Amino acid sequence: MPDTITKLTYQTFQHGKNYFGLAHKYLSTQILSLVTPQLQQKSRPIPPELLFKIQARLNQLLEADWQDAEKGVYPHSLLFDNPWVDFFRYYPEVWLDMPQIWQRLNQKNHQDFSVDVPKDGYPSYYLQNFHHQTNGYLSDLSANLYDLQVELLFGGSADPMRRRILAPLKENLKTTTGQVRILDVACGTGRTLKLLRNAFPQASLFGTDLSPAYLRKANQELSQIPGELPQLLQANSEELPYLDNYFHAITCVFLFHELPAVARQNVIDQCFRVVQPGGVFVICDSIQMSDSPDMQYVMDSFHETFHEPYYKHYITDDLVQRLEKAGFENISQQVHFMSKYLIAHKPAQ
Ligand SMILES: C[S@@+](CC[C@H](N)C(=O)[O-])C[C@H]1O[C@@H](n2cnc3c(N)ncnc32)[C@H](O)[C@@H]1O
Repeated sequence: MPDTITKLTYQTFQHGKNYFGLAHKYLSTQILSLVTPQLQQKSRPIPPELLFKIQARLNQLLEADWQDAEKGVYPHSLLFDNPWVDFFRYYPEVWLDMPQIWQRLNQKNHQDFSVDVPKDGYPSYYLQNFHHQTNGYLSDLSANLYDLQVELLFGGSADPMRRRILAPLKENLKTTTGQVRILDVACGTGRTLKLLRNAFPQASLFGTDLSPAYLRKANQELSQIPGELPQLLQANSEELPYLDNYFHAITCVFLFHELPAVARQNVIDQCFRVVQPGGVFVICDSIQMSDSPDMQYVMDSFHETFHEPYYKHYITDDLVQRLEKAGFENISQQVHFMSKYLIAHKPAQ
């Protein structure tokens, strides 16, 4: 009985976040249509039958999330984890930032950075206002708003999607002896590292990202959790600053759709280099045409609505072929809600 109540509470909590996200999108779209009617005319509403399919996928994701907690992949408490302080502190900022976003959208200005933001040393593909974010990934405000914006976009399901990497990791690491080392590539504000810390309390965790502001935010968040602090490093994932064969497992969440094709291959090659023989590499990223052709309507407009310059190429890219080219084998795939997962192994010696 208590289990049924907990499950119902979890489902209500998630559906509440989903409705909040929908209400936010509706309100912001209405205001946008008043401010810039020409932009509103271009956007197409999602047909009702597709909305039902999306809802069904969301329900399947929540069931998978619940079942993994039941199996002990992670504690039930993780299902209710929500950055409430950030929500109340930064939700008004999301609205205050919106006029700037609309202006960039209207002017198709996708490389808009304040003069005080240092831009040297980054690859040119990175210097973009991904998701029309003010100062791209390069400001503290962007780091503070990012998780909230992703939650609004996915109706509170970003963490349930991230959590789907944990069961394959657990399965692959169950026979590992000694100190387990896990690297999260492009860790952003540390959401995935937080999940990893809960599922692997004893592991040594590592995270890299290009954004100093996002790493600062990750450090703030992760230092509040008991246990060993993950080691964070600013680095381009195309040149990982680690020894060959160092990690037992590597994760990479929501990076590949933001990379040009060459960089995608470079990152996979680097992950192959630094993971141990017999180790596992788990990718979580957007669905693609090959696994979700019924979601084409959503994928077709995503790159423009959210300024994702490499997404159009990403959705038809063959990631399995790229993983095999790097040397990975025994590659399996899963799809949950709007994300896909690739679980790839480096051959044991
Ligand atoms: C969409 S966010 C995903 C962040 C995080 N993994 C998550 O689950 O929210 C993409 C992240 O990739 C980082 N990034 C993009 N290109 C990168 C690169 N070449 N090397 C390292 N980090 C990169 C960005 O700074 C950003 O934090």
